Amino acid sequence: MSARKLSIGVLVSGQGTNLQAIIDATSSGKIDASIKIVISDNPNAYALKRAEDSGLPSKVLKRSAFKTKVDFEEAAVGVLSEHGVELVCLAGFMRILGKTLLRAFPMRIINIHPALLPAFPGLNAQEQAFDYGVKVTGCTVHFVDEKTDHGPIILQEAVTILEEDTVASLKAKILKKEHEAYPKAIKLFAQGRLKIENRRVCIMP
Ligand code: GRF
Repeated sequence: MSARKLSIGVLVSGQGTNLQAIIDATSSGKIDASIKIVISDNPNAYALKRAEDSGLPSKVLKRSAFKTKVDFEEAAVGVLSEHGVELVCLAGFMRILGKTLLRAFPMRIINIHPALLPAFPGLNAQEQAFDYGVKVTGCTVHFVDEKTDHGPIILQEAVTILEEDTVASLKAKILKKEHEAYPKAIKLFAQGRLKIENRRVCIMP
């Protein structure tokens, strides 16, 4: 057990099932981290209700309330810093990050993507994989860099696409894996076991 818990901030835009998985893993003590703030760019995100139900502080930052992307990100950096955040977790946050956030938290922002990167980056990754006809897809937790769905890969979990699968059933299967993979990746980060060499992430024993 480490002396102090890793302080994390979670950025969301939608339903927040990954946020819930992180809440569950932190509150049960499964991972040595605590959520200090949840930020949503969408005031109607169900993720905000999840934060409230768990007694977590949250903040809505609407992009339209700011003149530029830099202003928006500066506000986000301010809120994250105020709460002492050391690791930023994007959990269904529907915005591409710019330099302001990336520079404030270098290699300290992670994301989850519902495909085995570098296959099927971008939106509707599950549908892209289904339509392409791949037999195996999954999810990827990765560090965030300046390119979309591109940074060093921390871990991946595979999902087999069966004959009877539909886009909806595939989405559900991948989401279930996401809920295991994201807390696992945060745990490794909190344990200080991730070492980045070029773009390879080594998991230290
Ligand atoms: C997940 O599929 C995640 O991989 C993607 O956005 C979705 C968010 O779902 N980045 P939720 O809001 O965590 O339920």
